[in-house]
Amino acid sequence: MDLGGNAISLLVSQERAYSLSVKEGWFQMVDAPAREQPPAKTIKQLAAMSEGERLRYDELRAVWHANLGPIQTPQLAQVHEHLWEIVDSNRQDGDKVKGSASIDAHPGLGKTTIAVAFGRDFHRRQLELYGEASTSGDQRIPVVYLALTGTTTMWTLNSMLCRFYAHPGAESGNATQLAGRAADCVLSCDTKLVIIDDVHLLDMNRRDSRAVANHFKWLANQFPATFVFVGVGLADRSLLTEGLGLADAAYAQTGRRWTPLTVAPFEVHTEGGRETWRRLLLGIEQMLVLANKHHGMVADDLADYLYARSTGHFASLMTLVTRGCHRAIKSGEERLTAKLLDRVRNDAAAEQARQELMAAFGAGRLTARPRARGAKVMDTGTSRSGNSSLASGKRRRRPRS
Ligand SMILES: Nc1ncnc2c1ncn2[C@@H]1O[C@H](COP(=O)(O)OP(=O)(O)O)[C@@H](O)[C@H]1O
Ligand SMILES: [Mg+2]
Repeated sequence: MDLGGNAISLLVSQERAYSLSVKEGWFQMVDAPAREQPPAKTIKQLAAMSEGERLRYDELRAVWHANLGPIQTPQLAQVHEHLWEIVDSNRQDGDKVKGSASIDAHPGLGKTTIAVAFGRDFHRRQLELYGEASTSGDQRIPVVYLALTGTTTMWTLNSMLCRFYAHPGAESGNATQLAGRAADCVLSCDTKLVIIDDVHLLDMNRRDSRAVANHFKWLANQFPATFVFVGVGLADRSLLTEGLGLADAAYAQTGRRWTPLTVAPFEVHTEGGRETWRRLLLGIEQMLVLANKHHGMVADDLADYLYARSTGHFASLMTLVTRGCHRAIKSGEERLTAKLLDRVRNDAAAEQARQELMAAFGAGRLTARPRARGAKVMDTGTSRSGNSSLASGKRRRRPRS
């Protein structure tokens, strides 16, 4: 990796500021090569760097540490397995209703990551199978990804759909006209998968939102595509059952199979859970680029600590790790320790649960460390310079029960 060159251009090219809700951004994400892990340096080598070199190296590390993964967790593998099953069996002719899925779980557990990673894999496979042009000679756009907002109305939803396709008429006309254009795009671009993220932002007490939910029902019946709805507490909010009409007898008769999927937090109450936790931490540890890193720094020494502070929530864990690395680099410590991480602040929910868990770990009532310390690492899905022990083909892990 070249550390020379302009620091600014290097940063811009590393950070990848694309929006997934428009096809350009989505295609950029799909086509982006796996990030390359910055080379490891010793303290001595760091000291020998010029100021500019050091600045660029630290920027590279900062961007790298902020974008670790997606890691192939059992949760991710399990949801992907179900999604493949659903899309692969959705080969009915256009007039038959296709199966759909929802990914329903608490915030920060990796729903969006899982859905986007699946969309990317599916996109790539469709292009590999059928080429870049659609049946009608347009651009093939196998996947549409939309993230809803709290104020999504029929008009904005259909406009967002059209905007994803860069349709010139995305901002004009009424909701029905926009829906017609969106439908044309889906058909002419051979779109097979529609991912609707943050569905929980639809407030079912608002008429606007109920209309949108109803519209999804119409779209899902209309389009020859698999719909994946992603959100928090969808079942509780009766969004899926009432809003999207999944409880309707008439709907059931259309033969649509609805598969609700969820993403569990990591747990350490069973030996299997602790093994998974350790494999995850080992995967993370191997990705860290810190000069004073040692084997077991994360996976063994910080297993309890990180569990207590994240309560097994992915977002909290990764925020801690990223900020911890930032601090380790800035302070020159170049390693993660509980003492250093104590100075890193995390989200409020995680902080609250932390006290209780720390007490349990401290009293020996609970441990996040498995009895057997295998060397099995979770697939981190990123390219690494010179670390063959991590070489990991696509492993399909059975989900833990
Ligand atoms: N498979 C994964 N590998 C690495 N980091 C992940 C993974 N899943 C989630 N994360 C971390 O957790 C954060 C939240 O994930 P996200 O997918 O946005 O969760 P959700 O959509 O459930 O709120 C991400 O920004 C990332 O840091
Ligand atoms: Mg999300």
